[in-house]
Amino acid sequence: MLRLLRRYRFSASHLYRRPEWSEDENRRRFGKCANLPGHGHNYRLWLAVEGEPDATTGFVADLGWLDQTVQSTILDVLDHQHLNHAVPEFAAGKLVPSSENVVLWIRDRLIPALAPARLVSLRVDEDDDLGAEWLAP
Ligand code: NI
Repeated sequence: MLRLLRRYRFSASHLYRRPEWSEDENRRRFGKCANLPGHGHNYRLWLAVEGEPDATTGFVADLGWLDQTVQSTILDVLDHQHLNHAVPEFAAGKLVPSSENVVLWIRDRLIPALAPARLVSLRVDEDDDLGAEWLAP
């Protein structure tokens, strides 16, 4: 099986905080990530699409189309935004915008946007030391 890998970048800030918890509980569970109003990361987003290369072009997926789709579906929404404010799913009381939840949010948008190309993995790195990866079952 062949996979085409592509990396994208976006910068965004986020805040880890559960409004139903006390200040102490937020501090205890989330540490500095609970500091208002949040903090930023230069995220890297890796994706892989799987398939056979087109007999004519040699491509598993057209890169221009892939980039344009990721740009309009994901990067235009997240880049230079505060995720808790820009994304309804990460609003106060909803999902915490952890790398894990961000990668799932991206997955839920990219699978339909990229069809019929087969998205098989996504990885969101928030820095050099921490990331989350989704692999197609
Ligand atoms: Ni963070």
